[in-house]
Amino acid sequence: MASCMDAIPNRFLDRVIIVTGGADGIGAAVASRLVRESARVTIFDRDADQSGEAVERLRKDTGREIDSIVGDVSDEAAVEEAFAKVKAKHSKIDAVVHAAGIVGPNATKAADVRVEDFDLVYRVNLRGSFLVARAAIRQMEPEAYGRILLFASIAGKEGNAGMSPYSVTKAGVIGLAKSLGKEYAESGITINAIAPAVIRTAMVDGMEAWQVNYMTEKIPMKRCGTLDEAAAISCWLVSEEASFSTGAVYDLSGGRATY
Ligand SMILES: NC(=O)c1ccc[n+]([C@@H]2O[C@H](COP(=O)([O-])OP(=O)(O)OC[C@H]3O[C@@H](n4cnc5c(N)ncnc54)[C@H](O)[C@@H]3O)[C@@H](O)[C@H]2O)c1
Repeated sequence: MASCMDAIPNRFLDRVIIVTGGADGIGAAVASRLVRESARVTIFDRDADQSGEAVERLRKDTGREIDSIVGDVSDEAAVEEAFAKVKAKHSKIDAVVHAAGIVGPNATKAADVRVEDFDLVYRVNLRGSFLVARAAIRQMEPEAYGRILLFASIAGKEGNAGMSPYSVTKAGVIGLAKSLGKEYAESGITINAIAPAVIRTAMVDGMEAWQVNYMTEKIPMKRCGTLDEAAAISCWLVSEEASFSTGAVYDLSGGRATY
């Protein structure tokens, strides 16, 4: 029986899409669905081993070519070079799903947060989002078409106790999506964000049990979101169909979000 989570064949035929953080977790799930829907995907991730495994798995499953670039989203030169390389190969970049991110200190009150840890979370989550969005816009503007999807979090909307660096940076991602959406509203490029609650990935598995319970108990549906659910909304948001939404923050929180 067909499922509502089945891939939509050829939705992304000839579309060139970069997925940051595509080696694992939500990014890997989105990359997999995009490839199954015929996109030409490049994974940009800092983890060379996991990227290699993800590419191999996708090749085996789909028979399609997937590219991979190893790099850090907080490194300005690495991000610019990666986007220029993809553009040089395919003559365009249609969409970017920017899923790379880290949690940093959790189950940790602000008084115990080391500033080095705060700075690292900032560099990856907020500076990285800015660099990826800026590189994407630079490459997309000449084509007057593009879809940029950033990953915020419910923590950025509501604040999670025990995760102040993460919550702050994700609130920043929301501000980034809202301002860029307006700046580029007439360019043909849309810039949106998703704010998930808890989706079970390595990121969540690496967190303190107290913190995971704290977040999950706040979800009215009383369950975590699935990777398929995250991939479904992400793929729609970077498809041609999502043409009248920009600067928006999409909920993926099982009812937790209050705005
Ligand atoms: N999983 C959740 O419950 C949840 C909830 C809200 C928001 N998010 C956000 O969704 C996104 C994906 O999260 P996930 O749970 O899939 O995480 P994950 O840890 O499972 O995967 C993250 C991927 O990003 C890569 N990455 C990390 N730092 C990087 C860097 N500096 N440069 C390049 N690649 C880097 C990792 O190697 C990994 O492949 C993140 O932005 C996260 O903050 C996740």
